[in-house]
Amino acid sequence: MNIAIITGASSGLGREYARQLDLAMENRADEFWLVARRQEKLEALADELITPCRIFACDLTTNEAVNALHGAMAAEHDLEIRWLICAAGFGRIGGYDELTPGTAAQMINLNCCAAVTLTQAAIPFMSAGSHILEIASCAGFQPVPYLGLYAATKSLVLSYSRSLAYELAPQGISVTAVCPYWIRDTEFVGRAQQSHGRYFRHLPLATTAASVVSRSLASARLGRTTCTPDALSLLDRILAALLPDWLIMKASRLLHLL
Ligand SMILES: NC(=O)c1ccc[n+]([C@@H]2O[C@H](COP(=O)([O-])OP(=O)(O)OC[C@H]3O[C@@H](n4cnc5c(N)ncnc54)[C@H](OP(=O)(O)O)[C@@H]3O)[C@@H](O)[C@H]2O)c1
Repeated sequence: MNIAIITGASSGLGREYARQLDLAMENRADEFWLVARRQEKLEALADELITPCRIFACDLTTNEAVNALHGAMAAEHDLEIRWLICAAGFGRIGGYDELTPGTAAQMINLNCCAAVTLTQAAIPFMSAGSHILEIASCAGFQPVPYLGLYAATKSLVLSYSRSLAYELAPQGISVTAVCPYWIRDTEFVGRAQQSHGRYFRHLPLATTAASVVSRSLASARLGRTTCTPDALSLLDRILAALLPDWLIMKASRLLHLL
């Protein structure tokens, strides 16, 4: 059985990946495994899709959730994972002193540990033509004050994805780190804004989930390792490669003040 595993499928990018893969003609999955905490949202999505879905309503920051997914993979006979899309993630806007130890640990657990552990578990069930998409962010290209820990988690995802792409290339498995700029129509920004709008109050030229998803799926099919799906993420990637971190951080102050 060919499957697609999509984490963060209850909203935003994850849900949009499920919708666009459902319509795709190429590399189709027989079943989607949809993962997030809100069961009712996953069920609503499953109802609208043509592809049969299996729902995993679980908190990916717990060992039990990742173990349950691993167990489900191992229990299937002839399982072939055609798509693994790790889109579950969250961030917090604000100074380092506004981040509680619990939230910091949860962010590292979800954005880094869960994505890496699930990916490692899935690789043995993949073969030539399979695709892994790790949803990073252009925040991962450099340090981002007042979004500091989030940016650091995305740096890890980006670096891990790039090395994994190199290691898996001989097997014909593609790995793409998706690095968008702000997206205006997902739940991410509302959840991240904890600082009474003091930082990143306006998000000029924010992109949309549909555009990020269609461009990143095209990048994955082309075997690209890093996808910057909008103009500002591409500009950031170029500037971060050319300029020192301190200069980028000073320039990013302007974005806080907009
Ligand atoms: N939106 C942006 O501006 C932006 C920009 C660059 C990168 N990104 C990245 O894109 C990815 C998707 O974000 P989004 O914009 O689509 O935001 P979103 O709408 O908030 O989606 C986040 C998803 O993660 C799931 N999730 C959160 N905590 C979880 C947990 N503990 N266990 C399992 N699932 C959990 C949420 O579902 P439940 O609440 O139901 O669990 C939700 O489905 C994230 O990794 C984010 O860092 C977003």
